[in-house]
This record gives sequence, structure tokens and C-alpha cells, in this order.
Amino acid sequence: MVNKIYGYDEDLWYNIIKSNYWTGDRDVDFIDMVLKRKGKFRHIIDLGCGVGRISNRLAARGYMITGIDLSRKCVEEAKKIAENLRLMNNIDYIVGDYRTLFFSKAEFDAAICILASAWKNLDEMKLFLKNLKDKIREGGILLLVDIVKEKLLISLFSSPSIQRWFNFNDDILSLHTWKYNLTTSMLKTEKEFYKKCGSKLNYIARVEREYPLYSINDYLKTISIEWNIEDIYDPPLNLMNLDSFNDPWWAFSLMIVARRI
Ligand SMILES: C[S@@+](CC[C@H](N)C(=O)[O-])C[C@H]1O[C@@H](n2cnc3c(N)ncnc32)[C@H](O)[C@@H]1O
Repeated sequence: MVNKIYGYDEDLWYNIIKSNYWTGDRDVDFIDMVLKRKGKFRHIIDLGCGVGRISNRLAARGYMITGIDLSRKCVEEAKKIAENLRLMNNIDYIVGDYRTLFFSKAEFDAAICILASAWKNLDEMKLFLKNLKDKIREGGILLLVDIVKEKLLISLFSSPSIQRWFNFNDDILSLHTWKYNLTTSMLKTEKEFYKKCGSKLNYIARVEREYPLYSINDYLKTISIEWNIEDIYDPPLNLMNLDSFNDPWWAFSLMIVARRI
């Protein structure tokens, strides 16, 4: 049982990511394209799968997926969607912490970790990458999508509206303020949440988080200790589509593709 996910109560977290499920249509083509470009991968582990936004869509394209997430509510929702879509033959969902993966050696062809980091510092990232290596077959790959300092800073400084924005997730309004401290390299996010009740907005929560931002170089140095870095992609984003502004994490992120040595 988890109490907090990235500082959120599980219920609020679940409601927010559930309402973002639709964005998977935009993102899965890119992920599938990279997987196909890199080889033949059948069994994929989705680390921090949330409500199955990507897992379910990859399963619908014929991959065998194991999705793991800390949040039972998210995993139950992912399963429910998969059952409705009759995908359960291709998917196995598990509640758990992917840092302590209990699978047997070299069980998977590939791992994806899409905006689901669980490390507080580079040493923890290093340990995660070392443990994961054991679970992926030789020649398998890791697709890691995460916020990187350079992209976030370009977005923050080139568009002041990104430092403060609002976001509607069904009936939940979030007000975001993101601040970056140049001297400590820490990002502070402050979010307030309101629930829509008729024409009123009722305050429900405030979530503050402060966490280090890693540069492309930090990622590359850490990943390349145990893996071969093959590509870095800028995930495609159609900024002419206003919904992209309501879900800007893709704009702050890069995808690093690394091969299991
Ligand atoms: C922003 S969501 C992204 C979900 C999914 N990858 C997607 O793209 O839709 C991040 C998810 O990672 C999960 N998560 C974070 N740390 C985790 C850990 N150590 N083990 C398992 N899941 C984790 C959270 O519970 C959350 O549901």
C-alpha cells in the first residue's frame, strides 16, 4: 500500500493520470517506431506503467507486456482497460516497486521507463540500471524518457507561460508553478488542485516537490557505465495542438535508447 506518489495522495494521482490516458495515442507511435528500428523485441517490461497508457497500446500492437507500478489503483485501472479491450492474453500487470524487480534473469527483451523515474540521485539511478541489466537479455534495450535539464530550461526561459500554467484533468483543475534554481540545479514544483462542482471550484490539495534536474551528460555518464547508449531522441510534439500545452512533460523530456551489453 503506497501513501504518496511523487508527493500526491494516491487517489488524486490516480485521477490525474487516468484522465491523461488519451495522450498515449500521441506517444505510442513514436515508442513503437523506436522499438522496431532497434530490433525484434517481443516481451517488454513497462517500469512505472501507471494506468497502462503505453502498455495497453503496445499490447494491442502485438507485444507481450509486463507492466509494474507502485499504485494499486493505477494497476487495477490498467487491467480494467486491458480486459475491456480483450488484451489480457498479452499483458501481465503487477503492483510493486520496479527498483526491487524479482523477475528471473534475462526475462525481458526490452524495458521502457516513460516519465516514471524513481531515483533521488545519480547513485540510485546507477543502482537501478545495474539491477535492470540483469533482467534484460543480451542485446535487449532500454527506452528511458525523462525530463532533462537542458530541455526544461529552454522551455522555461523561452516561454514564461510554462513557468505557470493550468491544466484541466476532467473535473480537476491544477494550477502549476515551476521554478528552477540555477545554483543548486533543483526544480521546485508547486501545484494546487481544485475540484469542479457545478460552477464552483473547491480546493482539494497542494503538492510541493523539489528534486534535482539532471543534464543530458549526467544521464549519459550514468547509463553508459552498464549499457551502450545508442540514440537520443527528441520526442515529437505537435505544438500546434493546444492539448500539448496542457500536457507539457513531453516537451521537457528526451528519450535515451541504451543497449544491454
Ligand atoms: C508519470 S506516471 C507515467 C506512467 C506511464 N509510464 C505513462 O507513460 O503513462 C509515473 C508512474 O511511475 C510509477 N512509479 C514511480 N516510481 C515507481 C517505482 N519505484 N516502482 C513502480 N512504479 C513507480 C508511479 O506510481 C506512476 O504511476
